[in-house]
Amino acid sequence: PQPTRYEAENATISNGVVESNHTGFSGTGFVNYTNAVGGYVEWTVTATVAGPATLRFGYANGTADNRPVNLAVNGAAVGDVDFPGTGAWTSYAGVTTTVNLNAGTNTVRATATTANGGPNADYLDV
Ligand code: GCU
Ligand code: CA
Repeated sequence: PQPTRYEAENATISNGVVESNHTGFSGTGFVNYTNAVGGYVEWTVTATVAGPATLRFGYANGTADNRPVNLAVNGAAVGDVDFPGTGAWTSYAGVTTTVNLNAGTNTVRATATTANGGPNADYLDV
């Protein structure tokens, strides 16, 4: 089935702001994480069935440094996801990971783990 897109600018944001100054994003903008540990974007997503689901995070990282985030699904940490540099803040890419979702509503929280904060977050496809 086609994934459903959840824009970062419509998610719950802590220590980040919605911006639109780097073109190429999906939707109306992206989330610029504060450059610090602990900021997050939390999406509420729906799964039709319980079990493994592919998450695809659209993002940009105009630096040379990886900006890993810790993923939590329904409040439980499930590991880190790497967001390597994309070459420019206007160059958007996607990284995928697989997590277990419940049937129905789930939360997916991506929390910055380094002093650089997270990447600029564009969307989550589920
Ligand atoms: C620049 C860029 C931001 C980005 C920030 C960062 O300020 O314009 O979009 O979030 O760098 O390093 O995180
Ligand atoms: Ca930032």
